[in-house]
Amino acid sequence: MSQEDQNIEEPKEKISRRKFLLWVGWGSLVTSLVGSFLGTARFLFPNVLFEPPSSFKVGKPEDYAEGSIIFSEEHNIFILHEKAGFRAISAVCTHVGCIVNWNQSQNKFICPCHGSTFSPTGEVLSGAAIGPLKSFSIELAKDGKLLVDTRKTVKKEDYFRV
Ligand code: FES
Repeated sequence: MSQEDQNIEEPKEKISRRKFLLWVGWGSLVTSLVGSFLGTARFLFPNVLFEPPSSFKVGKPEDYAEGSIIFSEEHNIFILHEKAGFRAISAVCTHVGCIVNWNQSQNKFICPCHGSTFSPTGEVLSGAAIGPLKSFSIELAKDGKLLVDTRKTVKKEDYFRV
């Protein structure tokens, strides 16, 4: 064998067009099947939005002294016990949804975000709020506790009496 013959490398094996297209085809098929499978599997685990229950107990009537306005941070409501009865008022401002505060000295609800104010019955007194604070239905549960249902709104004159 001459020196020249030893320097000549053998050509590397070329991938034929047919083989290349076969790989691309199988690769596409496998990719689409895996994608379909993952998409289908994703339906088994949907995005569930766990919202708080719309109906909940807030304690016994005797837990609320007459004249008291108690805020439930868990449910964003105020429980008012007035001479006429109980009321459950939403603490969510009707402007953009901030949580209002009760101001005892001014005898009104005040929104910390943009300054809307509401009467003790939830009526808008001033500010950008577009409507009154919602009042929710109250019933007495079988165990004697107050049951608030935020799916049912009541008029401002509707009090729950024990
Ligand atoms: S969110 Fe209450 S006034 Fe804007």
